[in-house]
Amino acid sequence: MDIDPLIDLAGAGGIIAWAQDIAAAGTGVRWAILADEALIGTCGLQNIECERGSRGEVAYDLSPAWWGRGVMAEVLPALLRHGFETLGLRRLEAFVNPGNARSERLLLRHAFFLEGTLRDYAFWRGRFWDQQIYARLAD
Ligand SMILES: CC(C)(COP(=O)(O)OP(=O)(O)OC[C@H]1O[C@@H](n2cnc3c(N)ncnc32)[C@H](O)[C@@H]1OP(=O)(O)O)[C@@H](O)C(=O)NCCC(=O)NCCS
Repeated sequence: MDIDPLIDLAGAGGIIAWAQDIAAAGTGVRWAILADEALIGTCGLQNIECERGSRGEVAYDLSPAWWGRGVMAEVLPALLRHGFETLGLRRLEAFVNPGNARSERLLLRHAFFLEGTLRDYAFWRGRFWDQQIYARLAD
């Protein structure tokens, strides 16, 4: 991931503030994923572009205890409906660290195509990272 594990409430507050900021700016949404009212992950759309394109980026993360149990199989279709139907976007993208096989399988199962490798596209934790870009069009 592009962030370190949270160690205090201030870190969580920073993420909540970021989520509120992107919603207020209209560039994204970030939702909580709940199981029995407990927070088990987050998901959303970000970097929404409506003027010089019609696209957004899906993003998601789950607590490790919930990986491989089909949670995103339920959540991702809701994200796609929000992007394609509610917002009327043409294209949804996902950026994945090479080697994140579970995320790549998830996207391929939901009709995303691997469009290529963006070399040294991202920088966090003191180094550059390639990103695999996946995308799905509305139709
Ligand atoms: C990537 C991530 C969100 C995927 O979430 P997930 O809930 O594990 O994904 P899925 O819903 O597709 O789970 C499918 C797996 O659950 C299994 N499964 C179990 N019960 C299931 C059910 N009822 N329905 C569907 N799949 C089920 C499937 O066999 C599949 O196993 P596999 O991945 O070994 O093929 C999660 O692994 C994660 O949070 N990783 C760390 C953060 C991260 O990488 N975020 C993405 C950055 S691009």
